[in-house]
Parts: sequence; C-alpha cells; structure tokens
Amino acid sequence: MKLVLNNVEKAFGEKKVLKDASFTFEKGKIYGLLGRNGAGKTTLFNCISGEMECDGGKVTLLDENNKETIIDYSKVGFVFSQPILPEFLTGYEFLKFYIDINKSKIQSLLTIEEYFDMIKIEEEDRHRLIKGYSHGMKNKIQMICFLITRPPIILLDEPLTSLDVVVALQIKNLLKQIKSEHILIFSTHILQLATDLCDEIVVLNNGILEEISNDVLKSDDFENKIMEILKEEGDA
Ligand SMILES: Nc1ncnc2c1ncn2[C@@H]1O[C@H](COP(=O)(O)OP(=O)(O)OP(=O)(O)O)[C@@H](O)[C@H]1O
Ligand SMILES: [Mg+2]
Repeated sequence: MKLVLNNVEKAFGEKKVLKDASFTFEKGKIYGLLGRNGAGKTTLFNCISGEMECDGGKVTLLDENNKETIIDYSKVGFVFSQPILPEFLTGYEFLKFYIDINKSKIQSLLTIEEYFDMIKIEEEDRHRLIKGYSHGMKNKIQMICFLITRPPIILLDEPLTSLDVVVALQIKNLLKQIKSEHILIFSTHILQLATDLCDEIVVLNNGILEEISNDVLKSDDFENKIMEILKEEGDA
C-alpha cells in the first residue's frame, strides 16, 4: 500500500502554502515530517485526509496491486495537535459511541477497558467528562480511536509534544508495534524524536516535500544540516 502525492497545491488567498508537493509514502514505515511554523504541515495533513480540497494535484492511495482506492475519512486516522472531542461525554462514553458508529469497519475489537489500559488512561479518569481531561489525555483518546479502527493511513500532528516522557515512550513503542500495517506520518518539531522514532524524514519547505537522505540522517552534524535546510534567507 502506498500513499502518493502528485504535485499537490494549496493556497489561502495569495499565500501559496503547498506549491508542488510530491511524495510517495509506503506502508510499514514511520515518516517524520519536519517544517517551520507555518510551513504547511497541518495543511498537508488536511489535504491528505480530504478535510481540505487541494487546489491542484492529486492524493491517491494505491493498494498492494497498485490499484487506486479512494481516500475517504474512514481510511485516515488523524491525531490533531489541538484535539477535538465532545467535552460533554466521558472518555468511556465517547469510545463506546465511536465503536458503535464504526462497527462495520472494525476487524478485531478489544474491550474499552483494554484500550484504556493500552494507552495508560487511569481507571479513575475513564468515567470523567472529557471536558476535564488534560491536553495529553485528549491526545490519548484520539490515539485509541485509530487503535480501534486501524485505518491504513495514520496522521499524527505533533501528538507527543503534550505527553509526559513516560507516556511518550509508551506511545513511541506502540507506534513501532503497529507500523507494519500502516502508513504513519508524524509531524514534530523535536528533532530527536524524529530521528529515533521515524524511518524516514521528510522536510516541508517552501511548499515542497524533500526526503532527507540516509547519509545526512546518519551524519554527526545532522541537526546542523537540517537547520541549514530549514533556515530561510535572512534568518540569523
Ligand atoms: N484555514 C486557513 N485559512 C487561511 N490561512 C490558513 C488556513 N490554514 C492555514 N493557513 C495558513 O497556511 C500556512 C500554513 O499553516 P499550517 O497550519 O499548515 O502550518 P504548520 O506547518 O502546521 O505550522 P505549525 O508548525 O505552527 O503547526 C500559515 O501561513 C497559515 O496561516
Ligand atoms: Mg501545524
């Protein structure tokens, strides 16, 4: 399975955010997406998930036989940096609802308690309103959603930034465990995280996507090289 971006373009008014973004993402790998604030990472995710319509170019999902399949919301799991969840439900109620509406797509279902255990949400928090959850807890609930439905494409928009170090490590291990069956794209500003979690690093800069070669990734001054790529003229 492959996710293919062909010359994707997206502008907001005069501002061209994605200019000619082309890249092929493959199943079984975790891709780290790096880019400056405002580079267009979230916009790119929105174009992949179909949340936003591209102005030009094409996003396609190819199955194992290179047959094109249409990307709709059921194929994409999205963990937003600003989690959007119904605050008037408890974590448990929300997951029960989520399982109910996705029943036909779920292949092997665990109990809600087992999902909570997997992602380390304490028992005492499971029946509290989401309204009172911390940012990190809301991110975790979003992660449970993709663990339930296991969509082929999983997009994580800076999800680990709000998680404490212990949970971040657990989530990293979890992502490594499930990666063989998914296309995982992970945006982050933490270089260290990108290098130790991701199999490939892709940079979004000036509206285009560029892969960072293995030579650069393995070099001692990797950080400096990335900085060079991301720095704009005029930056100190
Ligand atoms: N709905 C929108 N309407 C107008 N402009 C938008 C919209 N969404 C994004 N933009 C603009 O597009 C550019 C890219 O934004 P985007 O949120 O994709 O960047 P980002 O790489 O995710 O940044 P960050 O690292 O800060 O999260 C910014 O200049 C932003 O102001
Ligand atoms: Mg963003």
